[in-house]
Amino acid sequence: MYSKELVSAIAALGLVSGVAALGCRDDPVEIKNQADATQAGNCDSIPNDVVFDSMAGVDIIFGSRLTKIGGSLIVRNNSVIHSLQSSSLQTIGGTFELNNVISLTSLVFPKLTEVGAIQWITLSALPEPTFGTPGITKAKSVLVADTFVANLDGINVQELTDMNINNNDRLSKFSTSIKSLSNALYVNNNALNMSMEMPNLEWIANMTIANVSSFSVPSLKTVNGSMRFDSNYFPQFLAPNLTEIHDGDLSFVSNPQLQNISIPLLKKVGGGLTVANNTDLEKIDGLDSLETVGGAIKMRGSFNAIDLPKLDNVVGTAEFVSTGDIKKSCEQLEKLSGNIIQGKVTACDSNNDRANNDTSEAGGSNGGSGSGNGNGGNGDSAASLASASMSTVVTLAALGGLVAAFL
Ligand SMILES: *[C@@H]1O[C@H](CO)[C@@H](O)[C@H](O)[C@H]1NC(C)=O
Ligand SMILES: *[C@@H]1O[C@H](CO)[C@@H](O)[C@H](O)[C@H]1NC(C)=O
Ligand SMILES: *[C@@H]1O[C@H](CO)[C@@H](O)[C@H](O)[C@H]1NC(C)=O
Ligand SMILES: *[C@@H]1O[C@H](CO)[C@@H](O)[C@H](O)[C@H]1NC(C)=O
Ligand SMILES: *[C@@H]1O[C@H](CO)[C@@H](O)[C@H](O)[C@H]1NC(C)=O
Ligand SMILES: *[C@@H]1O[C@H](CO)[C@@H](O)[C@H](O)[C@H]1NC(C)=O
Ligand SMILES: *[C@@H]1O[C@H](CO)[C@@H](O)[C@H](O)[C@H]1NC(C)=O
Ligand SMILES: *[C@@H]1O[C@H](CO)[C@@H](O)[C@H](O)[C@H]1NC(C)=O
Ligand SMILES: *[C@@H]1O[C@H](CO)[C@@H](O)[C@H](O)[C@H]1NC(C)=O
Repeated sequence: MYSKELVSAIAALGLVSGVAALGCRDDPVEIKNQADATQAGNCDSIPNDVVFDSMAGVDIIFGSRLTKIGGSLIVRNNSVIHSLQSSSLQTIGGTFELNNVISLTSLVFPKLTEVGAIQWITLSALPEPTFGTPGITKAKSVLVADTFVANLDGINVQELTDMNINNNDRLSKFSTSIKSLSNALYVNNNALNMSMEMPNLEWIANMTIANVSSFSVPSLKTVNGSMRFDSNYFPQFLAPNLTEIHDGDLSFVSNPQLQNISIPLLKKVGGGLTVANNTDLEKIDGLDSLETVGGAIKMRGSFNAIDLPKLDNVVGTAEFVSTGDIKKSCEQLEKLSGNIIQGKVTACDSNNDRANNDTSEAGGSNGGSGSGNGNGGNGDSAASLASASMSTVVTLAALGGLVAAFL
């Protein structure tokens, strides 16, 4: 705390030198140039936001006392800044926001471990952030969209509410230490052939994954909400430890190289189950423990066999349609109509050339009429897919706002 006298003395000094003095408790602390950053960096701690002017540049280094920003660190619409660094900053209480900062090529924060949220949008020149080891270990949400980033290894968070990684053209490998995620993970439209690994993930509320070429979740046990895979290029999907999709839907739509879905311990899908237009998938034989489906089942594809040996309770309808011959499977499945499949088997068709052209999702758990209006009972599946595949920054910003609203 400074006395009033001291504050006015500093202000007077500022006037004398022709520069408005920057105070550690300014709200916000405004950075217009390197001199401001030097001064701000000589505060031990800044309780409010630190906001960069859109003309602040070119190479900005904070003075080396600053360890904590209580508010957000914000750089928006700045095409001048090339590098930004702080050798001492450990914590940003609010959002670390870099939005439309197209000339930034270097971001160096070796001591930063904790942020409220990361929100990086439209960083057209940043190849990778430089953090220390272990890097950022605490953040409630992470949004990285429309960047030049090829590596996010410095983000080592284990528990968070939201993560959204999209339209990063050079991000071809995303390996994350997340253990649990309590709202939603979106991954869409990054580098072609992006591989994605979540070796420690144990439970996740919802995930929507698109345009990924390999996917690994060896420890995943529970999905509390929904899990969707749309337009991916992985040849197989393995979730060896997944036992339950608690409330929501499971869907695989238009994954053209998918040949094997193996979720051997999965007992329950709380909402709807959709497998549609995965044209290389010839058999459903990896859902051997599946007993309960809270919504409808919709399986359309190029199958020659559909085995659901433990199926015991489907609340909605079920539809099985193939371009190939599934007559043998149908003999088994049709026996379940009206008893185990409460909403009846509405179709079990072989040799249907239109099998792959209906990709709407099965109904979710609220009613399970399931005959293809695409409205999942949980979390409006059509809408969440649409938002995940939009590539405009406007949408991203809106999502970012949503993310921020959860903080
Ligand atoms: C940044 O630019 C966008 C688009 O040009 C504009 O909508 C937004 O208001 C600007 N933000 C700020 C803080 O100037
Ligand atoms: C998700 O399920 C796991 C395992 O049952 C549980 O520990 C966790 O609290 C649940 N999370 C949410 C957000 O419901
Ligand atoms: C993507 O992977 C496929 C094989 O899975 C390969 O044929 C193709 O060249 C790869 N594309 C890129 C851009 O790496
Ligand atoms: C799978 O689940 C079991 C039982 O909870 C656990 O012991 C095992 O470590 C898990 N496997 C992986 C790869 O996490
Ligand atoms: C995520 O799943 C939970 C159920 O666990 C649900 O209540 C919530 O609305 C979902 N959030 C999104 C964004 O889908
Ligand atoms: C699918 O993958 C599982 C697990 O790796 C394997 O046991 C099974 O044989 C595979 N099925 C096919 C048809 O490749
Ligand atoms: C089916 O998948 C293919 C390949 O991914 C895609 O080109 C096609 O548009 C999809 N069909 C529908 C109806 O979505
Ligand atoms: C499926 O294909 C048939 C003809 O091949 C067409 O009449 C129908 O409109 C298509 N349905 C969808 C949902 O695209
Ligand atoms: C990426 O996935 C979206 C669906 O979420 C799809 O519309 C789009 O065509 C895919 N892009 C590529 C290159 O596969």
